[in-house]
Amino acid sequence: MGTPSAAAVSAKPPALPKIGVAILGSGSAVPTRVVSNDQIAALCDSSDDWIFQRTGIRNRRICDPADGESNRTLCTDALRRALESASVAPNELDLVICGTITQDMRCPSTACLVASELGCGTAAAWDIGAACCGFVYSLNTAHDLIRSGSFKTVGVIGCDTVSAITDYTNRNVAILFGDAAGAVVLRATDDVSKGVVAQCNHANGNGWQELYMPGWDEHIKDGADRALVRTGCLHMNGREVFKFAVTTFCSLIKETLDKAGLSVEDVDMFVCHQSNIRILEAASERFGIDKEHLYVNIEKYGNTSAGSVPLCFDELRRGGRIKEGQLVMFVAFGAGLTWSSSLWRM
Ligand code: COA
Repeated sequence: MGTPSAAAVSAKPPALPKIGVAILGSGSAVPTRVVSNDQIAALCDSSDDWIFQRTGIRNRRICDPADGESNRTLCTDALRRALESASVAPNELDLVICGTITQDMRCPSTACLVASELGCGTAAAWDIGAACCGFVYSLNTAHDLIRSGSFKTVGVIGCDTVSAITDYTNRNVAILFGDAAGAVVLRATDDVSKGVVAQCNHANGNGWQELYMPGWDEHIKDGADRALVRTGCLHMNGREVFKFAVTTFCSLIKETLDKAGLSVEDVDMFVCHQSNIRILEAASERFGIDKEHLYVNIEKYGNTSAGSVPLCFDELRRGGRIKEGQLVMFVAFGAGLTWSSSLWRM
């Protein structure tokens, strides 16, 4: 290989191929076991009233391992349903991405297990660990890999089974989370109007101690309350996370709209991480988004981490509320700290 010519060095990189990306179908899965606030409160010195007032949650679904339910089974069911709704066979997928931090096994990835169980042949498969942002990070990654021409048909899953890493005597965490999975099937299309109009992906690891699961003793800060901070269990500084979530949620929506040159009124539906009803209400008040345009289902499921955004999307789609040509914004934020958005033309 010789030295490249001056002309070759100064030449512009080739323009991206003109490929649109369509969401062909969606699916979701939640455990059968419904757990009420009263049941949680009996374990951690809280009450139905307190939980509902401060979070908007009444019930959540929690996996029953004795019934064979787990992160893997929820992911598999959600993607199977998404494939059925898309009329795409499992072996047509050439990539499966799963956003999760609560895999049944650390190795191999959940995506590999799901791809194998559904019969996806030798499709590539990997997990993305971004906590509550897991689905939106994965969606943006899958979209860009399709638009670049690397993959054609991709299954994207978001799932967390936070119950597996919850100490139910710690009321900071126990009241908030539930288990769920959601999935979509994306495919390259000649219709270049379809796909991401603008996306934002951010992280700030300096805030990791606000929401984390200590892996071993050395991860626990000196002076931490050992009754609350335990290895293998999620620990959350609720007040700090609340402040982060409210400010980030609003700045993220603004940043995404600015990038796209659009305003709030242009967006047909906001599909947002269901962290806490007060966080969702703060954003809807700040931007004047009415209930018709910001979907909320936290009362039934709690905060399902990476599962919450695709679960909302699937409910909306199946309810006939997502239509071709509409603008839909996905928004998430969580541990890391991470925050991410994806504005789509359907
Ligand atoms: N049940 C009953 N009382 C509780 C309680 C519980 N589960 N948790 C806290 N309290 C009490 C506190 O002891 C405190 O009592 P005091 O006033 O007598 O001192 C009072 O309620 C207020 O505590 P505070 O921690 O300020 O509650 P809060 O209003 O911040 O609500 C959260 C707690 C966890 C619901 C809230 O901080 C939150 O939702 N944070 C963000 C969580 C989140 O979204 N995480 C995921 C990000 S993806």
